[in-house]
Amino acid sequence: MVVINLSTMGKHKLARFAENLTFPNLFQVSFEQLEEKGFEWKGRWNVFFGNDNPIVLELGCGKGEYTIALARENSNRNHIGVDIKGARLWRGAKTSNEEKMGNVAFLRTRIEMIDQFFAPDEVSEIWITFPDPQPKKPMKRLTSERFLSLYRHFLKSGGPVHLKTDSRELYDYTMEEVIAPAHYEVEATTADLYASGHSGMATAVQTFYESMFLKEGKPITYIKFRIN
Ligand SMILES: C[S@@+](CC[C@H](N)C(=O)[O-])C[C@H]1O[C@@H](n2cnc3c(N)ncnc32)[C@H](O)[C@@H]1O
Repeated sequence: MVVINLSTMGKHKLARFAENLTFPNLFQVSFEQLEEKGFEWKGRWNVFFGNDNPIVLELGCGKGEYTIALARENSNRNHIGVDIKGARLWRGAKTSNEEKMGNVAFLRTRIEMIDQFFAPDEVSEIWITFPDPQPKKPMKRLTSERFLSLYRHFLKSGGPVHLKTDSRELYDYTMEEVIAPAHYEVEATTADLYASGHSGMATAVQTFYESMFLKEGKPITYIKFRIN
């Protein structure tokens, strides 16, 4: 029998939430603040990072391992992981601060509000890594046209969107119901990334969920496409 001590679990979370407030590269803004003043670094992320390097987003980054791995591999790019769960973001924020990584930041928000944090043309690339496939709610899928319209507000013209997922349904939906009707340019697509011989960042590092799915022998699907 597994006994879970709920009060200890709660204390861990509270401690993480408290520490989150001390990280200079983890941003969480209330609705009220956003409405009143907007987000202070929108259109000024280059000032925050102290350079004009391209900005790469990971949407639904969880604990941020992928954002951190990409940032380690690409020191000439700035990487921002986005997720709604503060206790998960804590991990990435903690590591990036311990390692003094100047090219990493985290943003705690619902992705539905992501356009409030970036100005037109401010982002060069988007990674969507193992999102919830939302089998019953197509409008909530992070590759639905509803979300692509949000990304278009701030993604540079020609900037790629990468989708990595173990969900064949989400992969097929994105290819057939989103990309095909809109004639978006597809640069890479595979229903089995690691059997495809594809090289590059998509195979260079794995996300936390991806490593679990790979251990279970599940194929990982991948699409790189452009929405402008
Ligand atoms: C299955 S996990 C994948 C985490 C990570 N990308 C990985 O591959 O290991 C999905 C993540 O997306 C986040 N998420 C789902 N819907 C979201 C939304 N609408 N806004 C922000 N984060 C969201 C969840 O909190 C969760 O951390």
